[in-house]
Amino acid sequence: MSVDDNNRFGRPWRPATQLVHGGTLRSSFGEMSEALFLTQSFAYPTMEAAEARFKGEEPGFIYSRFSNPTVAMFEQRMMLLEGAEAARATASGMAAVTASLLAPAQAGDHVVAARALFGSCLYVVEELLPRYGVASTLVDGVDLQQWRRAVRKETKLFFLESPTNPGLEVYDIRAIADIAHEAGAKLIVDNVFATPLLQKPFELGADVVVYSATKHIDGQGRCLGGIILASRELIEANIHNFLRQTGPALSPFNAWVLLKGLETLPLRVARQAASAATIADFLSAQKGVARVLYPFRDDHPQAALARAQMSGGGTLVSFDVQGGKAAAFRLANALAIVKISNNLGDAKSLITHPATTTHQRLTPEARARMGVGDGLLRLSVGLEDPDDLICDLEYGLRAARG
Ligand SMILES: Cc1ncc(COP(=O)(O)O)c(C=O)c1O
Repeated sequence: MSVDDNNRFGRPWRPATQLVHGGTLRSSFGEMSEALFLTQSFAYPTMEAAEARFKGEEPGFIYSRFSNPTVAMFEQRMMLLEGAEAARATASGMAAVTASLLAPAQAGDHVVAARALFGSCLYVVEELLPRYGVASTLVDGVDLQQWRRAVRKETKLFFLESPTNPGLEVYDIRAIADIAHEAGAKLIVDNVFATPLLQKPFELGADVVVYSATKHIDGQGRCLGGIILASRELIEANIHNFLRQTGPALSPFNAWVLLKGLETLPLRVARQAASAATIADFLSAQKGVARVLYPFRDDHPQAALARAQMSGGGTLVSFDVQGGKAAAFRLANALAIVKISNNLGDAKSLITHPATTTHQRLTPEARARMGVGDGLLRLSVGLEDPDDLICDLEYGLRAARG
């Protein structure tokens, strides 16, 4: 196998180049598109070689639950993009989140997390970890005092998403990382909503970055995947053995799809974020829209912070429709281009009603605390022409007004 040279000019390739070529392992056939090694195991030339590989004395693949050449290419390309020393791919974003929280924790430890989490992440923090003796405290992520006050001597991990789902709140990653480090804890950032291009959590002090690659990294709604990125030391000490023994491995086929997704990620994210900003401005001027949430709009509560720590406002827009659930349902049901789906980051625009889908498990009080009202809709802006999307939304808004 040969590896493309990514340091030819005395400096690493720029991100768009890395995303096309970075981490490519080319076999003796010289294939242009990354090879798909759809294999469970690998043959050893001799018994001695098998023994050496198991002992870690000789490089080489052993079994695809541990690692696989196509998966390794995906991990390598993500490491180059993120500026991380090490990475492990997983079968889904939730496998990445769960492993990043569970693998380093022991009974008696304590985790502090922002309350505004994706529903399944909230389940892991609030219900799963305590079952194994790992206590958790949920805080209002915007309020740095709450992060500070939540710290205990057993606090091992901080966890947050920014921007959040679906309220698009933005948290001060650098300040929260400082609080975590003063307490001797590590900060894990779920960077899904920002995408690897618009926010660089390691530069802001994060210790671990996780992704649902299902979202923008695939970007065309095909397969599930996830990844954990961190220092070599953290991955080796905490993550490597946990994943190897418990088995949430990424399929080589999905890794291949995700590699293809990475090639076009900068083009897609730039276009989708530009359309999202246009649509947020359009929605804010419409009768029947009570509130628009978009991190780069001046009326966003953390607009200045968003501009300081992100290089774009992202591809999602949330908005409150006057008339509550009935009006929100009428709006979404009337759309022709935008599809009703709880996924995000797809080339196709998707709309969801968080109160009855992703956040329906929460009590109305918990939803209210997160700003998830009955009229809230979350729009994931796709690659369609933004003028067509605006026409579609105009039609929906007319239906919402009744
Ligand atoms: C912020 C966030 N984190 C994690 C996940 C989980 O990812 P997956 O569906 O790939 O398990 C999702 C979406 O599902 C998400 O929106």
